[in-house]
Amino acid sequence: MRVLSGIQPSGSLHLGNFFGMMKKMIDYQEHEELFCFIANYHAMTSLSNGKELATGTLEAAANFLALGLDPEKSVFWVQSDLPEVQELSWILSNFTPMGLLERCHSYKDKVGQGIKPNHGLFAYPVLMTADILLFQSDRVPVGKDQKQHLEVARDIAIKFNNEYGEVFTLPEPEIDDEVATVPGKDGRKMSKSYGNTIDLFLDEKPLRKQIMQIVTDATPVEEAKNPDSCNLFQIYRLFLDEASVAELRQRYLTPGLRYGDVKQELFETVRDFFAPYSEKRKELLADPQGLRKVLAEGADKARYAADKTMRKVRKKVGLGY
Ligand code: ADP
Ligand code: TRP
Repeated sequence: MRVLSGIQPSGSLHLGNFFGMMKKMIDYQEHEELFCFIANYHAMTSLSNGKELATGTLEAAANFLALGLDPEKSVFWVQSDLPEVQELSWILSNFTPMGLLERCHSYKDKVGQGIKPNHGLFAYPVLMTADILLFQSDRVPVGKDQKQHLEVARDIAIKFNNEYGEVFTLPEPEIDDEVATVPGKDGRKMSKSYGNTIDLFLDEKPLRKQIMQIVTDATPVEEAKNPDSCNLFQIYRLFLDEASVAELRQRYLTPGLRYGDVKQELFETVRDFFAPYSEKRKELLADPQGLRKVLAEGADKARYAADKTMRKVRKKVGLGY
């Protein structure tokens, strides 16, 4: 089974990104054919600083590789290294009813927020469709916010296939309800836009500060506490095995637990958990040429798969004359 997902390069990473998406993708490489790319064309819809985009792209690559993505076991590349995806996007635009895009929530939400829409933002789901169909992806793991874009991809694929025969694999979305939303410091979904994140790859001091800011209730020390309504517990449990979660739960239920102590333990756990990855990340970023080489090799592998699709598509639509 071919699993594909794209990630926009965005500055810093938090525990929500790691447990909600990256870890799952990295685990896939052991059992499935994993295609994973950095969606830098998509990032242009919200970022116009070229330097920032270029740096962010290399950082995103270093993040994934440091956290365990193995370019030998997967296909890992930067979207813009395969400009053929733009050609497919144009071809697919001709099978995309305006209404389909006009109905997209993420587009409507941005317009609602007062962002002046341009064609890039409007056509975003078509490019995403091209990403998916170019590689004949069977399954696409995404967050809930991307669900509708997957429906668009399927609609476009069906329209195209109706016209020309079974050219594209119909992708199945994988929207994981099991990976419960990782809560942030204030209990809402952890998100950059809420400013409630606990970040990966921080130095000790700012990391400790973020963890100490986790909001807890005012239950006195001498009373039992409720683990299920506690953010701190919900975040800590992500790092623990079943037996340790049960043990922590028991400590909550026993009077005497101090939230400050649990925060200190969580700080040490997070620090120690990411320390080796952080070292690896530093090494990778210190050698940008090495990173570019890994990405170029990944692009070669991706191109091989993309060419197969594009030859078929060009012929069908009449561009190969
Ligand atoms: P942010 O909300 O911080 O801007 P992004 O939208 O860049 O995060 O997140 C990229 C991906 O990381 C999402 O598609 C989603 O799969 C995952 N993700 C982000 N935040 C969380 C969270 N709090 N819990 C679970 N997964 C998350
Ligand atoms: N739009 C996705 C996001 O913001 C990123 C993305 C681009 C993607 N192309 C994709 C995800 C193709 C899955 C498949 O999260």
